[in-house]
Amino acid sequence: MKHTVVTLRQQKQNKEKITMLTVYDYSTAKLMDEAGIEVLLVGDSLGNTVLGYPDTLSVTMDDMLHHCAAVARGAKDALVLGDMPFMSYQASVYDAVTNAGRFMKEGRAQAVKLEGGAQYAEHIRAITAAGIPVCGHLGLTPQSVNAFGGFKVQGKDTGGACRLIEDALAIEEAGVFAIVLECVPAELAAYLTGLLQVPTIGIGAGSGTDGQVLVYQDMLSMYGGRSPKFAKVFADVGSLMKEGFASYCKETKAGAFPGPEHGFAMDPGLMETIRGRYS
Ligand code: KIV
Repeated sequence: MKHTVVTLRQQKQNKEKITMLTVYDYSTAKLMDEAGIEVLLVGDSLGNTVLGYPDTLSVTMDDMLHHCAAVARGAKDALVLGDMPFMSYQASVYDAVTNAGRFMKEGRAQAVKLEGGAQYAEHIRAITAAGIPVCGHLGLTPQSVNAFGGFKVQGKDTGGACRLIEDALAIEEAGVFAIVLECVPAELAAYLTGLLQVPTIGIGAGSGTDGQVLVYQDMLSMYGGRSPKFAKVFADVGSLMKEGFASYCKETKAGAFPGPEHGFAMDPGLMETIRGRYS
């Protein structure tokens, strides 16, 4: 079954949890799609996990489109969600609509995500008016790391909690189909989930949201053992990969790989003829 913004809304109504993971390439997207993950988020966490930057700020539209198109080729049933990178929408509504359009045309995404609250309501309205579904992202929004003074849990005091609620209501009114809540106290995320008509997808926001999202390198322990507190390790793929690389290295150096079963045989008579020609 193809997952769409409509089926996600139905899942909220039916109290069926929504599953989302980040992904950046074709083969991993295909595995996730086959495993039943409903939303594949081509996150700008690409900057940290794949490109090796300390944050997401240097990620460009071209970086995102390159990876989004690869993910889209691997996704059959899952909804592909393209993450709008830093400065692809902040400066103007025109930029927002143009770049969201590039995600659809060049990245073959089915929706886009952008970080921020009421200050981007106009941008969200214009993108959705162009027929492009928009997912919001509130709480710890990593593109604002410098404004926050670090990666910190948001909405922990009355002012912060009320701002978060006001922002969520403003972007819901502007037309988002879902809202990612990152690093928000569990009680606040659950309250907000009850208040909103659109689904909430939590990351470090407790179990009371309509769905969950994780960065896949975190949940597979592939990111240098530096998983955040909220990211449960579901399989230690990082260790398995390291083991595999080390075995390959050892066997190659020892001459144990490749074995005869990994090569291609030749007619022995033919080899004799060739040897005769050059000796
Ligand atoms: O880019 C990303 O990985 C994200 C998730 C943290 C939700 O936006």
